[in-house]
Amino acid sequence: MTRLNWLALSCLLAGPVLAGNPVTAERQQELRNLMIQDCGSCHGLTLRGGLGPALLPSMLRGKSAAYISTMILEGRPGSAMPGWRPLLSEAEAHWMAELLLRGDLLPEQGS
Ligand code: HEC
Repeated sequence: MTRLNWLALSCLLAGPVLAGNPVTAERQQELRNLMIQDCGSCHGLTLRGGLGPALLPSMLRGKSAAYISTMILEGRPGSAMPGWRPLLSEAEAHWMAELLLRGDLLPEQGS
């Protein structure tokens, strides 16, 4: 197997296997951009809060990836938080939730 194949395989295995379709490396970069630009417009460019609450790991502690991905997909009716279902698959929302819980969106994000 070539090096590239190994890379593709490890991306597949490291991805949200349980959530179905893997999120490709290219799509991961798109999602990171979406989170900084779109989520950041309400939650703050460094996710420290704005119109929406901070999305740092310390703020999300105790919340599950399932809760966060549902929040991303459905939004919260009656609040400014929109649902992103038209733009995102469940696997993608789950990947984003895991990334937020890890605090891995921005180098300086920390907890
Ligand atoms: C138009 C503004 C807006 C945008 C854009 C937005 N949010 Fe929100 N978000 C909110 C508001 C306001 C809340 C608080 C809702 C409430 O509970 O009243 C919220 C709540 C949340 C919560 C729940 C936090 C908690 O601690 O329970 C998560 C998770 C979240 N947003 C993630 C995202 C993600 C990821 C994106 C981008 C895909 C995003 N949001 C885009 C306004 C926004």
